[in-house]
Amino acid sequence: MIHKAVSQDGIVEANYSLLISEERIQDRLAEMGREIGEKFNGKNPILIGVLNGGFVFLADLIRYIDTDCEIDFIRISSYGNEKESSGHIKVLKPLSADIKGRHVIVVEDIVDSGLSVQFLLQMLSAFGPASLETATLLRKKMRAKVDVPVEYVGFDIEDKFVIGYGLDENQVKRNLRSIYVVE
Ligand code: IMP
Ligand code: MG
Repeated sequence: MIHKAVSQDGIVEANYSLLISEERIQDRLAEMGREIGEKFNGKNPILIGVLNGGFVFLADLIRYIDTDCEIDFIRISSYGNEKESSGHIKVLKPLSADIKGRHVIVVEDIVDSGLSVQFLLQMLSAFGPASLETATLLRKKMRAKVDVPVEYVGFDIEDKFVIGYGLDENQVKRNLRSIYVVE
């Protein structure tokens, strides 16, 4: 049973419909964490959370990984406050860790056009990691503009704008525990 720290009624608005419940998210993360933990057992992988949206997913995912792992964060921008990727991506916060020779997993909240992940994989591969993979909580497969490899996908979803569990609408609603569609 999941204990709610607070009632979230006040921030779940009438035009939001539940897409993926907190329980389903946690069940899927347990599977993903187990898969990553088994694959990288004893290899000390480094998971790179993509800010801001990826921080909740990263925080929960690592607690389902049953081997030592490290984390770092990178922040990129492409959207501003818009709902569509402009494709013009900037690094707002670079990596801190040295990933040369390391097993790296990029941890994204959502793969939409695929442009962000494509940019990140190109940039990070230049540092010479031993392996480079991507984990995303959500993927809007229909919207892909570029074909990027994503080794771990939590849920494939329809082409709808979603919020909660790290994902924002104009910077708010990241604190919702489930994922909702904005109708
Ligand atoms: P991409 O470069 O088009 O794949 O976009 C990736 C980024 O856009 C994600 O990491 C999110 O930050 C943002 N994004 C895409 N779709 C949504 C959505 O439905 N809700 C909130 N953010 C989204
Ligand atoms: Mg993102």
